[in-house]
This record gives sequence, C-alpha cells and structure tokens, in this order.
Amino acid sequence: MGNLGNKTNPLDRALEELLARARRVALQSYSPYSGFRVGAALRLESGEIVTGTNVENVSYGLTICAERAALVRAVSELGPAIRITAVAVANLNGAASPPCGACRQVLAEFVQPEAPVVFPAADGVRTMAFRELLPLAFEMKLK
Ligand code: THU
Repeated sequence: MGNLGNKTNPLDRALEELLARARRVALQSYSPYSGFRVGAALRLESGEIVTGTNVENVSYGLTICAERAALVRAVSELGPAIRITAVAVANLNGAASPPCGACRQVLAEFVQPEAPVVFPAADGVRTMAFRELLPLAFEMKLK
C-alpha cells in the first residue's frame, strides 16, 4: 500500500474508476456552510459501486459526511450483508481529505481490513489499507 497514484505509481484501473465516481458524486454536494464538496465511492464484493456526498445542515453538527452517506445508501439499497472491498474519497476543493474518524468507525462494520482506501492527501492521492487507517477499531465482543 502507500500507492501515491502519481506517474511513477499509477493507481490500478478499478481504483481509478472508483475515484472518478467519487469525484463525480461530489458535484451533488449540499455544502452551503463550508463550501467543501466531498464525494465517496464504495466498491462492494459484488463489484457494484455505491456513491454518496456530504449533506450539511444549518445546525452544523447534523451534517452527514460523504462516506457515511454512501454507506447508508449501500445498506438501504442492498441490505445488511454488504462487504466493502475498496473505498475512494475525493473533494472538489483541491484539499487533503482522508475519511474523518467518525466515518472510519462507521465504515469499520462493513469494510474488509485489507480494503484499499484512496483519498486526497497533502502529497497527492494516497492509498492505505483500511486497517492502517483505523487500527484497534472498537468492537463489542461480550463474554
Ligand atoms: N466531510 C466529509 O464529507 N467527509 C469527511 O471525511 C470529512 C468532512 C464533509 C463534512 C462537511 O460537510 C465538510 O466536509 C467540511 O467538514
């Protein structure tokens, strides 16, 4: 992992496609308060892609991030058994935007630990395994 997605380290085609879908859905962003337009695309085990964008609210704290919007859409449309095999995040602001901590925790329920997560970083597009982004995710294993 650590693929920068630049000339020396191109992303593979499937991840390029996922990133393109994330960029495209960012055009739908409802972000009048921050102006930060984010898109997320999830690749499912079935090969399907489900996308989401951020939806802000005047009370700010009720804002839904693109990643969680995509996840909720995927479960709603395809059911609770979905497994996510890759994630792409993009924004139209030319800024770094790795998935926020809340989104990592929510994604953890459905994402395979080795799934690549592609996101804009300070040094360009970066790819990390999900388990690297959220080590020691909270799980509830009752004894
Ligand atoms: N945002 C996302 O959609 N995903 C993230 O991982 C981080 C932040 C959105 C929320 C808000 O609408 C805007 O970006 C600024 O924080």
